[in-house]
Amino acid sequence: MHIVTFLFVFAISGAYGEDRKIQGVLNPGCSACSNETTLVYIKATGAKDSILQIWDFTRSAPTVIYVIGSVNASLNVTWEKAWNEMIPTKFVLNEKPKYSFAAVVDQPYKNHSLSYMRWERENNTILTDQEAKVVVRGHLKGEKRGSIDLKLDLLPFKDFAVDLPHLIHTANSTLIDISLVNLTLDKEYNASRFALHFVLVSTDDANDKMRYDMRKSLDDEHTPGVFEIVEIKTPESFLKGDGGFMQFRPVAYTTEERGVTTSTNAHVSNFTTVRLPRRSTVERFYSDLDLQNPLVQGIYISFGETGDGFYKQHNYTAWSFTIGYGAPPVEGFSLFVIIIIAIGLGVPVTLALSGVVYLLVRRYRSRHTPQRFTDED
Ligand SMILES: *[C@@H]1O[C@H](CO)[C@@H](O)[C@H](O)[C@H]1NC(C)=O
Ligand SMILES: *[C@@H]1O[C@H](CO)[C@@H](O)[C@H](O)[C@H]1NC(C)=O
Ligand SMILES: *[C@@H]1O[C@H](CO)[C@@H](O)[C@H](O)[C@H]1NC(C)=O
Ligand SMILES: *[C@@H]1O[C@H](CO)[C@@H](O)[C@H](O)[C@H]1NC(C)=O
Ligand SMILES: *[C@@H]1O[C@H](CO)[C@@H](O)[C@H](O)[C@H]1NC(C)=O
Repeated sequence: MHIVTFLFVFAISGAYGEDRKIQGVLNPGCSACSNETTLVYIKATGAKDSILQIWDFTRSAPTVIYVIGSVNASLNVTWEKAWNEMIPTKFVLNEKPKYSFAAVVDQPYKNHSLSYMRWERENNTILTDQEAKVVVRGHLKGEKRGSIDLKLDLLPFKDFAVDLPHLIHTANSTLIDISLVNLTLDKEYNASRFALHFVLVSTDDANDKMRYDMRKSLDDEHTPGVFEIVEIKTPESFLKGDGGFMQFRPVAYTTEERGVTTSTNAHVSNFTTVRLPRRSTVERFYSDLDLQNPLVQGIYISFGETGDGFYKQHNYTAWSFTIGYGAPPVEGFSLFVIIIIAIGLGVPVTLALSGVVYLLVRRYRSRHTPQRFTDED
């Protein structure tokens, strides 16, 4: 019982103690930005370092950039008017970054480029010291009904996400949901599934490689039916535990209501050699920070399984992942599992002990009872 109590307290304090102070700003330094422009800058300050994040939707390809710096690190963004919109044109960091990595979604499906995508911000943005959250919606060119929806959420403590597949988020990682909603397809693609193309960038040796790892979890308590956890790590994360990673379950959902019966598979391709997307925010960012020649690789995440009737069966696919700094978090035993283990171990141990106690007491009694009789007599 003591073990259970202790771990319970530990779990609670782990869940509610903030690991970093977060501070988010929408379109920093841009007074002329309208609601059409979305670039979120977040500084998450820890005891020894800070993590700067940029969530960028100002150009067509959604981009998340991480920069690891000292506690005093800060980023300055300069804006310019291009056509009718404000776009970030210069990034200046007040120090040399320790490490940086980024992920960009530049295409869904077979080269449906996101080049003409415009991202509209929903009205539920949160930027407090407890949470940073932004939701955006983009429409493919010539596609009015359907949308690609993205939700980014940073909570400065370790916990399981509320929604399936209940990924672990920490102060060092951001939870991202991508939904492909009502995307009607050309007739020729009536038997199609969607895939997302990611460009992954890190300030590792350009000749090195990103690492793919599939782990088995101890139980499927948090994601029923799914035991695998996929991790993509930058070389620095793989070798020293202080680089960048993506973590997800190989599962996607075909209805807004996420459940076991509406789940489908998410597949990961091999890494491909790609370049930084042209005229993108990452291209500008890494040249401004004098971090030319980073490691850049591509990867496809595709959804569906044989016989599922393809995307048009539901016209909906949602998938979640986390992107973060350091070593990917590992799920421990939950309170529930600990109680089960405690009962499983506790009952036999208690029985064994009570058996021993019973024997001892009996032996004691049988030895001392006659004596007591004589004493009382
Ligand atoms: C950060 O700034 C404070 C106050 O300006 C200074 O005392 C401190 O040494 C700086 N820390 C680092 C790591 O540069
Ligand atoms: C976050 O990163 C810091 C180092 O920057 C590390 O000390 C801390 O343990 C990490 N937290 C989690 C939950 O991974
Ligand atoms: C997708 O389209 C259907 C039919 O037009 C509609 O009922 C549904 O609400 C749409 N889904 C979303 C998430 O907008
Ligand atoms: C796709 O559409 C074409 C023409 O409409 C049809 O001939 C074909 O059978 C369809 N394929 C599937 C897998 O539904
Ligand atoms: C999905 O969209 C296609 C094309 O608009 C339509 O034919 C199909 O009935 C839709 N499916 C569902 C489940 O709404």
